[in-house]
Order: sequence, then structure tokens, then C-alpha cells
Amino acid sequence: MDKQSTNTVWHHATVTRSRREALNGHKSAILWFTGLSGAGKSTLAHAVEERLHRLNCRTFVLDGDNVRHGLCGDLGFSHQDRQENIRRIAEVAKLMLESGTIALTAFISPFRAERQQARNLVPHGDFIEIYCCCDLDICEQRDVKGLYKKARQGEIKLFTGISSPYEAPENPDLKIDTDANDLATCVDQVMSLLERRGVIRMS
Ligand code: ADX
Repeated sequence: MDKQSTNTVWHHATVTRSRREALNGHKSAILWFTGLSGAGKSTLAHAVEERLHRLNCRTFVLDGDNVRHGLCGDLGFSHQDRQENIRRIAEVAKLMLESGTIALTAFISPFRAERQQARNLVPHGDFIEIYCCCDLDICEQRDVKGLYKKARQGEIKLFTGISSPYEAPENPDLKIDTDANDLATCVDQVMSLLERRGVIRMS
């Protein structure tokens, strides 16, 4: 992004992230779910949010399909537009991190470079990459939204996994086989990681 907003001066808040975290009784973090369409990112992110909410944690889910109705409604699915989509979401997630919230993002985010950029925006350890690993065949069989069928018929261009690439994470913080485990097991895996990383305390 070429920064156009010159002559701006950062204003420092007196209510800091650590004060907000102390008030909340948990750390903030970005849980970045990545994977193919239909891999279960949104389902898992919302189920983790439900579990966290019951533990009195402040949370918010940023979901690809939803955000593309508003904040990113001007973007399509070219490489460039996906880059911009992820850049915006990473910036929003960073603001949420500052606000003391546990931000859960559910975007295909197919490119390693943009995921790395999102990670680099925030302090080390605050960006937790969760790879929802699910075979393309299974996503396609499920075809919850009927989009794979349309992509195969050529009605949707540049569809991830069919006519646009997905670069799987090489070193995610957590890899979850969403095609082999039930939802509760997947949620448990995320919750254990959050406890190990000191974001939450369950007992
Ligand atoms: S990303 O690649 O920029 O991260 P994002 O997660 O926001 O994608 O949006 C993906 C969602 O948009 C999919 O779950 C699907 O419902 C819808 N979609 C529509 N067209 C495409 C396409 N060409 N490729 C992938 N997803 C698409």
C-alpha cells in the first residue's frame, strides 16, 4: 500500500492494551484460521468463540463472507484483491488486539506472503495461525454453498483450489484435520493451545 496520509501524528492512549487485558482477565490474541472454502474455518472459529464467551472472554469473529458484504465489498478474488482483503483484515485484527479482544479471523487467506505480513504487523506470539486442513475432494463433496460445482462449470473464475492456488502453511501454530475430527475435538485442540500460550486460563 502506498501511504497517502501524510502529516499525521500518532496519539498514545492512556488506557493501554495491558490495562484492558487486566480488566478482561485474559490476554488478547489473533487466531488466524486459514484453509480452503468449506474446510470449516467459520464453523470452528464460531465454535471456539462460543466456548471462550462462556469463559467470560471478550471475542469477535471476522468472517470472510461477512466482511465481503461491507468493509471489503469492493474487492473481488484476483490475487491483488485478495492481498488487499487480507491487508485490511490484518489491520482490523490488530486494532482488536489493542482493544484487548481475542480476534478470530476466518479467511481462506491463500497466500503465504500475506499471512506472513499479517503476522509481522503484531508483536511476536500474538498471531496464532491455525490451519484448517481438509482434502479438496472432501470440501468439494460437501460443497455447502454450491460454489465448487459452479467453479467446475466455469461459472466462477479464480476459485481457490480449482482455478486459483492455495498455499498451505508450512509451519502453522496449529494444524487441525477438520476432515478427520469432530467439531468438539477441533475446539478442544484450539482451547488447549490458548491455555498453553497463556492467552486464557481454563481452571
Ligand atoms: S480470500 O481468498 O480473500 O481470503 P475470503 O475468505 O475473503 O477469501 O472469501 C472466501 C469466500 O468467498 C468463500 O468461502 C466463498 O464463499 C466465496 N467465494 C466467492 N468466489 C470465490 C472464489 N473465486 N474463490 C474463493 N472463494 C470465493
